[in-house]
Amino acid sequence: MVRQEADVEVWQDPLPPPYETLVPKVKGLDALLCLLTDKIDANLIIAIGPQVKVISQMAVGFDNIDVATATALGIPVGNTPGVLTDTTADFAWALLMAAARRVVEGDKFTRAGKWKTWGPIDFLGPDITGAALGIIGFGRIGQGLAKRAQGFDMRILYFDTKRHPDAERQFRAQYADLDTLLREADFVSLHTTLTQETYHFMNDGRLKTMKPSGILINTARGPVVDPQALYRALSSGTIAYAALDVTEPEPIKPDDPLLTLNNIIIAPHIASASFQTRTRMATMAAANLIAGLKGERLPNCVNPEVYGTRH
Ligand code: DGY
Repeated sequence: MVRQEADVEVWQDPLPPPYETLVPKVKGLDALLCLLTDKIDANLIIAIGPQVKVISQMAVGFDNIDVATATALGIPVGNTPGVLTDTTADFAWALLMAAARRVVEGDKFTRAGKWKTWGPIDFLGPDITGAALGIIGFGRIGQGLAKRAQGFDMRILYFDTKRHPDAERQFRAQYADLDTLLREADFVSLHTTLTQETYHFMNDGRLKTMKPSGILINTARGPVVDPQALYRALSSGTIAYAALDVTEPEPIKPDDPLLTLNNIIIAPHIASASFQTRTRMATMAAANLIAGLKGERLPNCVNPEVYGTRH
């Protein structure tokens, strides 16, 4: 799609361009299509130059981009909302089930040749059916998880900065203050964006408020959970288990203490990784890029206020 509209240079290395390489490379571009692994800060945005017409991110989250600077310079920033909702909610659900029923541990046990018999108390975990699910951040993906949980007769609690009355009815979800949710939920799943307010949102205090049998799921952004606090909580039995698709930092360092624990599953940020969804995300990012190049409004723009000043 993009090659039909512009001369394109694609970064070919499977690892992201180092920041020091990216800054001189972006100079003079009309448009930039980036991934969540690229740090698009004020310095880089200014380095592109005043001719730039669009920054298009192939992700719904855009905490790697200094949108305030882009907006101040009148540059529209695109993202890919909606198309990954179900795929990500599916994965959050997969993590929830895998953590509760200890699927990853069981697999490792089998491969290690340790499966000698059927043990009545081996690999016990909590039931999912009928349990209480606490959802923090009740946007599209949080609601997608609630939809899945309905099929398991779960009691659904949610916490958000605002109420969602329609979704409460549709998914039989109950609004709860944060303390109540953390105290009563058997599973706590995070679906917030990463902002200054949500940085290390799950800290020692909040992890301690969870049940000792509680299971934490994070498919949002790694820094929403304080990793050191999580290590303390998992290693001391403050909570029972965690399943993460996102970490701080990403990728997680090989010597991170979390990797020494058995009661955690860590996936490499793959919640949106279905064939169909990644194709939809790429197509949307290309459509945003092309619209920006043509001077048209981006189909999905995170800072539409730029159109007030520029168009
Ligand atoms: C996003 O789009 O923000 C996701 O984290 C990618 O999986």
